[in-house]
Amino acid sequence: MPQLARRIGRAKPSAIMQVAEKAKRLKAEGRDIISFSIGVPNFLPGDHVYAAVRDALAKDSGQYGSNRGADALLDAFIEHMGKIGLTGYGRVNVATGIGAKHVIYNIAEALLDEGDTIAFPTPYWTSYLDIAEIVNAQIDLLPCPASQDYKLTPAQLDAALAKKPKVFLFNNPSNPTGMVYGKEEIDALADVVAKYPDTWIITDDIYNRMVFDGLGYHNFVHARPELRDRVIFIDSLSKTYGMPGWRVGFMAGPESVAQAVTTMNSNHITNVPEVVTAAAVAALSGPQDVPTQKCAEFQAKRDQVMAVMNAIPGVVCPRPQGAFYVFPDISVAFGKTHAPSGLKIGNDMDFCSALLETKGVACVPGSAFGEPRALRISYTCPTPQLAPGLQRFQEFFAELV
Ligand SMILES: Cc1ncc(COP(=O)(O)O)c(C=O)c1O
Repeated sequence: MPQLARRIGRAKPSAIMQVAEKAKRLKAEGRDIISFSIGVPNFLPGDHVYAAVRDALAKDSGQYGSNRGADALLDAFIEHMGKIGLTGYGRVNVATGIGAKHVIYNIAEALLDEGDTIAFPTPYWTSYLDIAEIVNAQIDLLPCPASQDYKLTPAQLDAALAKKPKVFLFNNPSNPTGMVYGKEEIDALADVVAKYPDTWIITDDIYNRMVFDGLGYHNFVHARPELRDRVIFIDSLSKTYGMPGWRVGFMAGPESVAQAVTTMNSNHITNVPEVVTAAAVAALSGPQDVPTQKCAEFQAKRDQVMAVMNAIPGVVCPRPQGAFYVFPDISVAFGKTHAPSGLKIGNDMDFCSALLETKGVACVPGSAFGEPRALRISYTCPTPQLAPGLQRFQEFFAELV
């Protein structure tokens, strides 16, 4: 019998999707389920995006397109970056892909030989670990618990970069914690990055338009423009524009990396489809009122979730300032029993499973993100579901003995 490649033994299906699937199944069985699990923005893009799609369909060439991305899309992205102060990039510095996940995967293939080290903070977005494992990299996890607001310190970064990893992967605003690094924090980390010229830096900043409290978005390149020759900025339409299923992601950085991603595209996908390209250009260049309004809405929902987290004794929950996630440390519940059901809570998986079974509320266990003391709440559910979902969450805690 022929065998599958060893690589596939290292590939795992997404833990987040497993929770979402279970919630979907219970719902299909007629259970009243409120899902705080999957990280989708839950809104649709503006009408101008659909108008651009209709127009593109009428003019469809039916042809293959550019491996890097259509010029109109590259230009729209470059202009979009300029609005967050990332200027000086040309078409040779950017490339597109089928979502940021695909772009990150391509970059991992392009930068990491087997056995090379990639360092990144914990909690991390699940796919970082999965992608690093598929390409057989050594993984150096940098623990950032709730006690340090889930943020990496300059000293931690210094110690990690002194070991000369090939790649340091950074995510701001963060999935799963929603934490955002302020200007001074980025400046301090950028000073450390500058000391270690042999490490590539990937900044996965796809939530850069979803920053609250006037904190603003900051990148290492803002702090130290000379870092642009090894900082690779990642962006996506998925969250900002309510277009996760349209699958458009971007990178901007050194020419060599953009060319490598283009070459990978030529061997994988060939191109982002023409109609999707039209939608993406319209989203990036058209009116920005939908993302702006959604950001304000998410900030209000963040406040609603935090009010409940702060009211539960023993729960430690750093206050997020971006994206649409809250990541409470719920380890106070470990060792307890949910009295009405008799279910024992030994860890985050037990907690999420019992919460879903007894209260119909789906959250993702923190171990999916490398932090088993916590769980992730994604609060993009329809607004009328948020308060009842939070109430059930609070009740569940009150019923632990
Ligand atoms: C931090 C982070 N990076 C990348 C992605 C992937 O985005 P895309 O839909 O563009 O592949 C996600 C999606 O959840 C994410 O949270």
